[in-house]
Amino acid sequence: MSRARAAARRARGVLCAVAAGTAWAFAPAPGAANAPAAKYAQGAASFQANCSVCHGSSGAGLPSLAPPLLTYPAHYAASAEGRRQLAMTVLYGLFGEITVDDKRFDFKMPEFARLDDATLAATLNFVVFDLGHAPDSVRPLAADEVAAERAHAIDGAAVREHRKSVVPSGS
Ligand code: HEC
Repeated sequence: MSRARAAARRARGVLCAVAAGTAWAFAPAPGAANAPAAKYAQGAASFQANCSVCHGSSGAGLPSLAPPLLTYPAHYAASAEGRRQLAMTVLYGLFGEITVDDKRFDFKMPEFARLDDATLAATLNFVVFDLGHAPDSVRPLAADEVAAERAHAIDGAAVREHRKSVVPSGS
């Protein structure tokens, strides 16, 4: 079995354990200082249930498994094609080699088409605004932007092809 497949299998196992009831880890402990509440609380809950197993609860990524989400998603959200890229990534996954913050990843992100448009938009807004600190000038993603990408299905390899047009230059 390839390394990527093994990692994906391992992650799916953990994902089940998470779905089975691990508490939402992003919530600051009561009274914790310097830990503002998430702007997108519903998105935060979805992120912790569906994404943190690979990307880490603060989105910093895991070197052997998945890239950090702290800079690129906020960058993507500032352009029309980048917003499409975000929606496509969660709907259809992402396969193949990519570079993030000068680090190479070559794994397989699973698709999350089973989640509804509003949940996916909220999850992406948590990534873009709460984790990525996109400025207020960036418009939050809306459910209909996710619906527009759901209307024409592609695969994770095509999502990676499209990514080339939106990734920050030099990456
Ligand atoms: C099974 C592990 C796994 C899970 C669960 C997962 N991802 Fe990923 N994600 C990855 C991997 C691996 C990549 C990079 C794929 C590659 O190497 O081509 C990735 C890439 C991404 C990217 C693209 C980053 C970029 O620079 O273009 C985004 C955005 C993203 N994930 C968001 C999410 C969100 C949101 C969720 C939850 C709905 C999620 N991921 C769940 C493994 C995962």
